[in-house]
Amino acid sequence: MNNIIIFDTTLRDGEQSPGASMNTEEKIQIALQLEKLGVDVIEAGFAAASPGDADAISKIAQQVKNSTVCSLARALDGDIKAAGEAIREANKRRIHTFIATSPIHMEYKLKMTPQKVIQKAVDAVMYAKTFCDDVEFSCEDAGRSDVGFLKEILDAVIIAGAKTLNIPDTVGYRMPGEMGAIIKSLYESVGDRAILSVHCHNDLGLATASSIECIQNGARQIECTINGLGERAGNAALEEIAMILKTRKDIFGEYNTNINIKEIYPTSRLVSTITGIEPQPNKAIVGKNAFAHESGIHQDGVLKNAQTYEIMSAKDIGLDKNSLVMGKHSGRHAFSEKLKDLGFNLKNEEIQKAFDKFKILADAKKEIFDDDIRALVASEIIKISEVYELITLQLSDCNPGGVPSAAVTIRHDGKNTTDAAIGNGTMDAIFKVIDRVCGAKGKLKEYKVDSVTQGKDALARVVVKVVFDESKPAIMGHGLSVDTMLATAKAYIGALNSYISMRDGLRDIKNRLI
Ligand code: KIV
Ligand code: ZN
Repeated sequence: MNNIIIFDTTLRDGEQSPGASMNTEEKIQIALQLEKLGVDVIEAGFAAASPGDADAISKIAQQVKNSTVCSLARALDGDIKAAGEAIREANKRRIHTFIATSPIHMEYKLKMTPQKVIQKAVDAVMYAKTFCDDVEFSCEDAGRSDVGFLKEILDAVIIAGAKTLNIPDTVGYRMPGEMGAIIKSLYESVGDRAILSVHCHNDLGLATASSIECIQNGARQIECTINGLGERAGNAALEEIAMILKTRKDIFGEYNTNINIKEIYPTSRLVSTITGIEPQPNKAIVGKNAFAHESGIHQDGVLKNAQTYEIMSAKDIGLDKNSLVMGKHSGRHAFSEKLKDLGFNLKNEEIQKAFDKFKILADAKKEIFDDDIRALVASEIIKISEVYELITLQLSDCNPGGVPSAAVTIRHDGKNTTDAAIGNGTMDAIFKVIDRVCGAKGKLKEYKVDSVTQGKDALARVVVKVVFDESKPAIMGHGLSVDTMLATAKAYIGALNSYISMRDGLRDIKNRLI
């Protein structure tokens, strides 16, 4: 049996999806769920990118026990040192270092000769080996690199000690057959001296197909992400790779992964709830419609025999259609078991807090679904400490011709402040009064509202992206309530809290490094 190593980069390449940035607490929850899913290697981030990234990687390294924890690093001493330090406490650790190998990248981006690139790659691998034995080397833009040159650089880094050689189709340019041919040719040269890996981007919608083709040509590690998140059009989707290998045993029977497919759906939901990025409804495996049968003919067939129109079962991936969960009479024990099933790993005090909030919700909403609980925990529990806490929100009636106003009470440092503002609409009034009370000046870049589940009493989930400092990227905030305007106010304050804790957290980390 050939084991296929599943290398998940949701927390690194996935986080490079526009708008997918996550805080440390959120990354820890995802990493622990990836471990439960059976991922072999978790790329937890890019330590040198920011002190916040380094901090998240080291916290993940402390908590994850079974999966290898990996940090990305450019082929630069500073990056490799930051990666080595961030993963130091991991039970199993890996440094993943890379340099570009395509003519266009070497000439215009790196401004280096091919021989200089080989030297840099060798130096990087040798330096990474001083931090850990398990070193992966990637040829960035390998898809557009000369195969002869790839063989040359791979030979050099194998001698330097690299154990995994990753061949990314960085810009998603190659056809599956072409990627397969590249891997075949590299496998002939590398043999069993190292593991060949692929990392395919989805710019032409071919990332999964290319990855699968590479498995058939010698690749034994696949780099992928949950829901296919990733830079631009994303990466190969983990759930697609795992389900292809499982569903087409007639072709892929000799390949095995450690993925526990029952955890696919809970992991997908956890990632989409935390990032606020829902897979498209028709997304294979995890989209809302992936197991829905709309036409009468199909429904009739499925009722007679599910296999008439289903090649896999929703249950296999952990999608339990009876996901109506609990009501106000549910107990704390059942609730905490439910949290575990949904992929949350919370401390006792967090479970208690979530349970208290669940009880309040159960009074406002008759039926509570799994997605309600996911949204509640993501919005109210696994967030950074509340620098500002919304205590009350009162809105004026929206009479035609009236002046919309909002009054809030906000707690900060143990002190309550109440104020009111008028605006060009209720939302504008809410943002203005929060800015005034908190001394902030946020610019709203994105606003999204959706209902978490069905029903007139459904929870509204608001996701905002706000810029508080023009020199920094937009910060995301989630808000959840049966009332959309209350969810809006919570989301805005959530973004402000994230901004403040990131800013102050970075200051703390920088002070510690000095
Ligand atoms: O797409 C890419 O080339 C990458 C590398 C850093 C592995 O993400
Ligand atoms: Zn990538």
